[in-house]
Formats: sequence, C-alpha cells, structure tokens
Amino acid sequence: MNDLKGKQFFITGATGGIGMVVVEECLKRGAVVFATGRNESVLNAQILSHPDFTFIPADLTNADDLSSLIKLLPPLDGVLFGAGIIDPCPIKFIKQKHIDAIFSINFDSICLLTSLLAQNKLLKDKSSLVFLSSVSSEFPYKGGALYAASKAALEAYAKGIALEFASKGIRANSIRAALVETAMFEKTKNALTTEEIAEVISAYPLGIGAPLDIANAVLFLWSDLSSWMTGSVLNLDGGLLLNSKK
Ligand SMILES: NC(=O)c1ccc[n+]([C@@H]2O[C@H](COP(=O)([O-])OP(=O)(O)OC[C@H]3O[C@@H](n4cnc5c(N)ncnc54)[C@H](OP(=O)(O)O)[C@@H]3O)[C@@H](O)[C@H]2O)c1
Repeated sequence: MNDLKGKQFFITGATGGIGMVVVEECLKRGAVVFATGRNESVLNAQILSHPDFTFIPADLTNADDLSSLIKLLPPLDGVLFGAGIIDPCPIKFIKQKHIDAIFSINFDSICLLTSLLAQNKLLKDKSSLVFLSSVSSEFPYKGGALYAASKAALEAYAKGIALEFASKGIRANSIRAALVETAMFEKTKNALTTEEIAEVISAYPLGIGAPLDIANAVLFLWSDLSSWMTGSVLNLDGGLLLNSKK
C-alpha cells in the first residue's frame, strides 16, 4: 500500500484510539494528513511536529466549526469518517436529547461534512471515503439501540454516496468493526461485570481487535488495491459473527 505516498487524507476522530493509529500509519507511508478532533492534547509530539501533519480542532456537531474546518482543507484523495460516540441508554429511558447526542455526531455531522466537501470540490476524482460502522448495525446489544441505529443509517448513507459519486470514480465503503481495544471499549466494559466481559471476549475466535487491525483496512480501502470496491460493508470482527445464531 505504498501508493499512499504524497496523497492527501482527512481523518475525523484522529484523537481517538482508531483514528490516531490511522494517522500514524499514513504518515509512515509518506501521506499528507489533515486531521480533526476536539482534544489535541492526546496526540504525541512526534505526530504533532510531523511536517506532513496538520491538526484542525473542531466539534463536528457545531456548524461554525464545520465551515471553518472546510476552509482549511485541500483537495483530498481519501477521507476517514472516524469520529463517533457510544453513549448506551436503555430503551425506556431514551429521550430526544439522547437521540440528538448520538445522531448529531455519528450520522448528521457526517452527512453535513460530506456535503461541504462535495460543494467545495474537495473530493478528488477517484477519491475514497471510508466510514467507521459497527457490527451492532446488524447485531445490536442491550442499551445500544441508538448507537446501532446510527451506524445502520450511516451504512445506508455510504451506499447512497457510492451510487451518486460513482461517475467521478469516487468510492464509499463502510467498515463494520466489532470490539476494538480503545477508550470506547473501556466505556463498554464499565457497563459490564467481570464475568460478562470475559463472556464477550470469549465470543471472539481471534480475540478482540486492535486499532491497527482497523487502520490496515482503512489503508486498503484508500489504496488502489480496492479500486473496484464501492458501496461495500467490510466485516472486521475477529470471527465474532461465526458465533452468531442468525
Ligand atoms: N472501539 C470499538 O470497539 C469500535 C467498534 C466499532 C466501531 N467503532 C467506531 O469507530 C470509530 C472510532 O472509535 P474509537 O474506538 O477510536 O473511539 P474513541 O477512542 O472513543 O474516539 C472517538 C473519536 O471521536 C471524536 N469525537 C467524538 N465526538 C466528537 C465531536 N462532537 N466532534 C469531533 N470529534 C468528536 C473524539 O474526539 P475527542 O476525543 O477529541 O473529543 C475521538 O477522536 C467510532 O465511529 C466508533 O463508533 C469503534
């Protein structure tokens, strides 16, 4: 995947467990990286001082931040839509504020950002858009109905982009990840007992994922190796779905 050299990528959620590793892997391969998140302080000095790295802080649910961000981006070869939150809530307690909290970042911000990128001609012909979804879009878990719904909506939206932008050779694919060891996994763990955590982990024939497992798939989807893939949903789950009863 050395064909990323000199190409320009934009990564949302770059301050998160997965996004940060995607940044590192891109920089290693000579790509030029534009990244966003809210909490710049978690990025290490090596990333922040890299000549091919630009960080643009933004709350992607804030319209002013979105329009400022868009002005600082160059034409792009690829985008990773990685920002997202989990925020579990049992069905009977769901209020409008919970729906808004999840959907505003996991879905709305992605639609609005994509529109702005397209309007401002920042998506090069043959660019590749990657959306971070979750196995919960098909196999929800208790307390995660809103999160699962936001990811199901995202996958459907990505397929719409694949169709609309195909004439320019622009591709859009989703990665449907199972549990990956990041801060998000820590939040999931906090809602479970030790026995429940052990049970969850034992359901993974290859163990739970590392951020690099997802980063490798992102780089593949950005590279020419995946040039005939669009509108796809790539399951990345360490074999979890082999244990599914469906
Ligand atoms: N980890 C998993 O098990 C797993 C499994 C399946 C799918 N995914 C998906 O993969 C993506 C990345 O997950 P992760 O594990 O890397 O999560 P993470 O470590 O919790 O990082 C989440 C990222 O989203 C950013 N973010 C959240 N709200 C934002 C907002 N309002 N504006 C701008 N940025 C915002 C965070 O930025 P700040 O921290 O700077 O605010 C952070 O960079 C998410 O979409 C998640 O749903 C994760």
